[in-house]
Amino acid sequence: MRIYRYLIPGLFLFAGFLLFAQDAEGDKLKPHYHEVNAYVEENESCLKCHGEVKYTLEDTLYGRTVTQAMWSNLILDRDAYYSGVHRSFMCTDCHSSEFEEFPHSLDVRMEENFGCIDCHGYDETFADYHFEEIEVEFTESIHNMEGFSCWKCHDPHAYKPNMRGTENIKEAIQLNNSVCLDCHGNFDNFMLFTDKEEINVVESHNWLPNQVAHIRSVRCIECHTEVNDSILIAHKILPKTEAVKRCTECHSRDSRLMHSLYKFQSKENRRGGFMNGVIINDTYVIGANQNIFLNRLSIAIFALAFLVIVFHTILRIIKLRN
Ligand code: HEC
Ligand code: HEC
Ligand code: HEC
Ligand code: HEC
Ligand code: HEC
Ligand code: HEC
Ligand code: HEC
Repeated sequence: MRIYRYLIPGLFLFAGFLLFAQDAEGDKLKPHYHEVNAYVEENESCLKCHGEVKYTLEDTLYGRTVTQAMWSNLILDRDAYYSGVHRSFMCTDCHSSEFEEFPHSLDVRMEENFGCIDCHGYDETFADYHFEEIEVEFTESIHNMEGFSCWKCHDPHAYKPNMRGTENIKEAIQLNNSVCLDCHGNFDNFMLFTDKEEINVVESHNWLPNQVAHIRSVRCIECHTEVNDSILIAHKILPKTEAVKRCTECHSRDSRLMHSLYKFQSKENRRGGFMNGVIINDTYVIGANQNIFLNRLSIAIFALAFLVIVFHTILRIIKLRN
């Protein structure tokens, strides 16, 4: 009988442990991953190292193991991976299957990656995105330098479009600007491409009043690219000498923002509430857009004044005749 006194709590403990263990495992691999990707288990063979802060280095010959820290820039976030545009991919769709071996060979580490255009170029399915034109713009941009590629701004393991069809423009602006600031505001990434010893992006914009409010309301590319009406996101970053500095480029009736930031809002939206809501109601950037109601009001006032003049003239003529 005595054994039950230990057996029953023991069983509970064991069940609890199983549940906990399952939970820990379940936490890592959320059910929706399997809905978007048929190779979740295969990807785990990479993510057991690249999805963790540490990994186990094994020496099969002598049966030894050591635990090591994973380089933080080589750690991938599973949630981000399985919600990006390439969420259905196996790691080895883009990377050589030789990465399955560890230590990875020098050869495989030097391997050249596919570019966006290799998969997306001249493909009707993706015609909406105008990959070919973006490719040309990038080639002509200031960033076309050794080692730089589309991937430096488009995280291969997380990218998804934010601007396209967004309901929350402020958030989309933040996400867009964070792409630029990830380098221009983060020396660890910036120094890979330049010998400059410091970042001075804040000082370079000191001429702009209320820098913070501006960076929250406009994208970096508003001032740093050529307006291009045929693609949604202009990609031709110009040298700083060609950046927009004139306030009236935006603070005016035909603001360049109408051709960049707000161009993808439907015309209906722009005329009715959206633009006027952003530009006129909660700021004093008046004149960045025409307010349809103000316009009508001024036409009405003008028409009224005109009628009064006509009426007055007629009265005078009648008076003169008499
Ligand atoms: C045992 C842990 C482990 C496994 C499993 C593993 N890697 Fe790695 N990987 C590393 C470490 C550590 C590095 C850092 C460079 C090094 O030490 O070789 C690395 C580096 C890399 C790099 C960067 C190479 C470079 O030099 O820029 C890529 C890409 C990569 N791994 C992809 C993969 C892929 C894809 C898989 C699965 C097929 C995979 N790895 C499996 C531990 C692992
Ligand atoms: C759509 C293609 C694609 C897929 C899918 C992909 N990668 Fe990558 N990966 C790349 C490219 C391109 C680079 C190089 C990025 C660069 O040059 O900045 C890269 C870089 C890496 C690096 C080096 C660190 C870094 O972020 O630059 C690691 C580690 C890595 N990949 C692991 C993985 C693992 C693990 C998976 C699967 C879970 C995976 N990749 C899936 C394209 C891909
Ligand atoms: C290895 C081939 C490959 C590479 C490289 C690649 N893509 Fe893709 N991409 C695809 C495929 C295939 C899909 C469709 C995935 C699906 O429907 O599940 C896709 C989907 C997308 C989508 C979503 C399209 C839509 O309408 O749903 C975007 C946006 C995109 N990719 C952008 C990029 C960008 C930007 C790059 C480079 C930084 C890139 N891709 C590199 C193969 C690739
Ligand atoms: C200097 C950074 C940078 C570089 C380099 C870059 N992009 Fe982009 N790209 C962006 C940003 C920022 C966005 C806006 C993301 C969003 O919110 O949709 C974007 C958006 C896109 C989109 C989505 C446009 C849409 O209509 O929704 C595509 C496609 C794209 N880029 C392709 C490319 C290709 C191809 C290359 C290389 C030839 C490239 N990009 C290089 C920063 C960059
Ligand atoms: C991966 C890093 C990286 C990213 C991301 C990046 N840049 Fe750059 N950018 C550079 C480097 C490096 C230079 C050259 C700096 C130098 O050495 O003079 C540069 C140069 C520039 C210049 C020209 C400066 C001059 O001296 O004429 C502008 C403007 C610029 N970037 C804007 C942007 C914008 C806007 C974005 C986002 C859409 C962006 N950058 C994203 C690394 C980056
Ligand atoms: C209102 C327009 C405007 C906006 C918005 C803007 N810039 Fe600039 N930027 C300029 C002008 C003009 C210069 C040139 C300043 C000078 O040379 O006096 C410049 C200079 C730069 C330079 C070159 C100087 C340096 O620090 O090396 C970089 C890089 C740069 N901007 C990046 C960015 C990034 C990243 C963002 C978004 C966070 C951004 N800019 C937003 C107008 C703008
Ligand atoms: C790229 C377009 C652009 C340029 C160039 C630009 N602005 Fe603005 N500015 C905006 C937008 C959009 C807002 C609305 C900010 C907000 O939502 O509060 C704004 C807001 C402002 C505000 C109000 C800021 C606050 O406290 O809310 C002032 C003042 C201002 N701008 C002055 C200037 C001056 C002066 C210049 C030239 C040196 C300039 N702007 C250049 C787009 C621009």
